[in-house]
Amino acid sequence: MIMNPQMLGAAYLAAGALFILSLNGLSHQESARRGNLCGIIGMIIAVGATILSGSVGNLHIMFPCMIIGGIIGAVVALKVEMTQMPELVAGFHSLVGLAAVLVGFSSYMDPNSQFVGTEKVIHEVEVYLGVFIGIITFTGSIIAFGKLSAIIGGKPLMIPGRHWINLIMLLICIYFGYEFLNAESHDAGVWPLLIMTVIAGIIGIHLIMAIGGADMPVVVSMLNSYSGWAAAATGFMLGNTALIVVGSLVGSSGAILSYIMCRAMNRKFLAVILGGFGTGGGAAAEAEEGEVTATSAEEVASMLKDASEVIIVPGYGMAVAQAQYTVSDITKKLRSKGVNVRFGIHPVAGRLPGHMNVLLAESKVPYDIVLEMDELNDDFPDTDVSLVIGANDIVNPSAQTDPNSPIAGMPVLEVWKAKTCVVLKRSMATGYAGVDNPLFIKDNTEMLFGDAKDSMDEVLKHLD
Ligand code: TAP
Repeated sequence: MIMNPQMLGAAYLAAGALFILSLNGLSHQESARRGNLCGIIGMIIAVGATILSGSVGNLHIMFPCMIIGGIIGAVVALKVEMTQMPELVAGFHSLVGLAAVLVGFSSYMDPNSQFVGTEKVIHEVEVYLGVFIGIITFTGSIIAFGKLSAIIGGKPLMIPGRHWINLIMLLICIYFGYEFLNAESHDAGVWPLLIMTVIAGIIGIHLIMAIGGADMPVVVSMLNSYSGWAAAATGFMLGNTALIVVGSLVGSSGAILSYIMCRAMNRKFLAVILGGFGTGGGAAAEAEEGEVTATSAEEVASMLKDASEVIIVPGYGMAVAQAQYTVSDITKKLRSKGVNVRFGIHPVAGRLPGHMNVLLAESKVPYDIVLEMDELNDDFPDTDVSLVIGANDIVNPSAQTDPNSPIAGMPVLEVWKAKTCVVLKRSMATGYAGVDNPLFIKDNTEMLFGDAKDSMDEVLKHLD
């Protein structure tokens, strides 16, 4: 052992402080790189200190596993597209949950366990809770992964009496918790633990299956929070302060993010996690009929040149087409001609929190013209052109006008209030929530069909 317990405590404290600095840095684009760096250094200190403290046995097994896992992680991170990020995050959460379950079982069955009396009871409560949260995170994240990658349909599974089913399963888990704590031996106790694992696994599947496609952003951040609590519970089981700190940070920041996203989508947090939203209620959403007006890149370029106020609303399609660099060039050109160009960012645009901000920062769009939805939503009536690039749900007026719409009540960017609204997309297909969009048939809306990158390239050519 190279590190004594005091040194280990100091190292964990330093790592904890770095993780807090990391979260702080990640909350602003300008400081995000520094935040990432703090997180990396904190993690190196935490893992290094744990190894040097001698508390890890079997280093000859652990090192090869760390190297293989590290290589797999690096390859996946290098290959993943920005648009697949939510699936990747859901996949990672499932691994955190599974790790909590495995640590829970091994910690309970450890033949060298020294716990007696009250300490033993506390340890067993930690094990039971850790396995419970871990398995819900594991199975729930797998379902979320399936839904996000369209392996499983986005429609919510509405079993009659589903809340009662969940409640009964929860009560059964509590009953087996009692049996577990009162088991006479570890051999006897492992059965209630196993039964609870199966039932809680079903709860995880059922909870996420009941959540509609439109609410998946909240689910991802909620599972993020669960994975944090699972890690914190593992930290208690292992008596590892760093894991408790990291788990609590992830758990609470994920919970705060879920709350912020619910507020942004005008949803009640409890209603989302219990499922049932994103279904469109009982009645069918109203379908509107009307004419679609198609336009050309040349016309859009001349509209933009003649405008004095332009608001660009990017969405998932801009990410798919990787059009952000051309969009940035167009912005530069228009600003040099004296056009006031601003960007309106919806809190759930794209497929992950901050998705559009990352793309725009990457393509060097100045931060000060990238505004949140609430900061410019009242400015559309004074705007000459609103340019919607691959966005759909976040600019759907039916969220305000159709109470039966699955996205009813979700705040949207009011692009249709501009003098002219130009929408770039490839077809009349619906967006993520699968809802028709009456924006496309409004009198002042013009559709520029095609891949957003190709269309933007054409517009740029005609701007000179
Ligand atoms: P969406 O509603 O998904 O609409 C994107 C549109 O982009 C589609 O209608 C598609 O139409 C178009 N598109 C796709 N590829 C394109 C391309 N290469 N060129 C041009 N257009 C293209 O996106 P949104 O408006 O950004 O809304 C986000 C949705 O995702 C919300 O429903 C939100 O709840 C959900 N969601 C968000 C998150 C987070 S945290 N942001 C996470 C998961 C889910 P065509 O096929 O006709 O081209």
